[in-house]
Amino acid sequence: MESYTIQKLNGKLGVLIVGLNGAISSTFLAGVFAIQKGLAKPIGSLTQMGTVRIGKRSDNNFPLIKDFVPLTSVDDLIFGGWDIRDESCYEAAQYAKVLNENDLNNAAEELKSIKPMKGVFDQTYVKRLTGTYVKEGKTKYDLMMKLREDIQSFKTQHSLDRVVVIWAASTETFISVGEVHKTKEAFIKGMKNNHPEISPSMLYAYASIAEGAPYFNGSPSLSVDAPAIVEFANEMGVPVAGKDFKTGQTLVKTVIAPMLKARLLGLNGWFSTNILGNRDGEVLDDPGSFKTKEESKLSVIDSILQPELYPDLYGTYYHKVRINYYPPRGDNKEGWDNIDIFGWLGYPMQLKINFLCRDSILAAPIVLDLILFADLAKRSGMKGIQDWMSLFFKSPMHSDDVVPEHDLFIQMMKLKNTLRKLMNESPITHLDSNGIEH
Ligand SMILES: NC(=O)c1ccc[n+]([C@@H]2O[C@H](COP(=O)([O-])OP(=O)(O)OC[C@H]3O[C@@H](n4cnc5c(N)ncnc54)[C@H](O)[C@@H]3O)[C@@H](O)[C@H]2O)c1
Repeated sequence: MESYTIQKLNGKLGVLIVGLNGAISSTFLAGVFAIQKGLAKPIGSLTQMGTVRIGKRSDNNFPLIKDFVPLTSVDDLIFGGWDIRDESCYEAAQYAKVLNENDLNNAAEELKSIKPMKGVFDQTYVKRLTGTYVKEGKTKYDLMMKLREDIQSFKTQHSLDRVVVIWAASTETFISVGEVHKTKEAFIKGMKNNHPEISPSMLYAYASIAEGAPYFNGSPSLSVDAPAIVEFANEMGVPVAGKDFKTGQTLVKTVIAPMLKARLLGLNGWFSTNILGNRDGEVLDDPGSFKTKEESKLSVIDSILQPELYPDLYGTYYHKVRINYYPPRGDNKEGWDNIDIFGWLGYPMQLKINFLCRDSILAAPIVLDLILFADLAKRSGMKGIQDWMSLFFKSPMHSDDVVPEHDLFIQMMKLKNTLRKLMNESPITHLDSNGIEH
């Protein structure tokens, strides 16, 4: 078995968030500060509250993940980032209206002290936003270099060895992989020539990798999911992952679809719709940004149900996903799923799911887990696409030679076995044979 050497923790971990003043970022930061002060528990965070079984089931050994693998402590994180509006994280959290006054006050001082650096932004890629606090540069290459300088000065300012970058900024318009994304040479030339298929999120991804910082993409935008950028990450020994935090409706889908398949229940149709009224909802109201999100949400069921292997059950189902911008709900999204299924002798049945969730409350712990696992991956010498973290993404990045894994429980098994492997423990296969469990 290949064994890993994990670099020892040395000093604090720098965290740079793109979209520092968004609903997710401000909710995440307020939570981390409350946790650091002992005023809240990290509910929803796998790294902080999750356990991992070691050895046989009868050994009864279930350490907390954070005690099993050497993760950076939540107390050792230093934050910064970029946004396109010049306001503190406190003002951003007030605008987002996710948290009540008490939770805001608990973190007020820290949130007020965090201000973003100017972002790289172009309205061509996010039609519904206007950037008032943005970097200027003649070419996309110049802008990328400015982002690199920001990362360097953040490291110097806080005397940091390690930095991770996470994209929690708005969803960009749909871009598919083209020639300019295929090789590093074409991509660099494209940045210098202001190629229209190079969006700001790709510049952040490239700059982070160039600075040796893992880059994780929480939006469905292409960003780091371009062959040239992945190739660059491999070359630089930098872990990357994405896309699109798996939080609400898709999280539920990746549990229900495996259930249908496990029982060989057929599917006639799956209609998902939801209402939300935060800024993300406003951005997704633009058809270009919605298309990016739609592609990410649609791929899930097909990949779990494998219609090509089960044509009688899943060969012809109708799948529709709608997102409706509805301001009165703010961040408190409501999702409805109507699932038309069929069983023995083709008799029809229905499942109805009504999820009254809170977008940023579901996303915040994922941000924390990704930051800590990204740093662990880097310290362990892992590089390129980290598909063991697909648990956290709606549309997990994967190499060309494998299909993505969407089933939440398989994703969880992958993640935990990766942690076991990192710590030189045997993977758990859940095989029972003659009373011997492997
Ligand atoms: N909340 C969820 O459940 C969830 C789930 C999956 C994905 N996402 C994605 O996460 C992202 C953030 O969501 P949110 O609700 O916090 O959105 P938000 O609109 O509240 O925040 C986005 C922030 O990004 C900033 N921004 C936009 N373009 C930028 C750029 N080029 N550089 C720097 N800053 C930029 C905006 O000014 C804003 O402050 C979105 O892409 C969303 O689709 C959210």
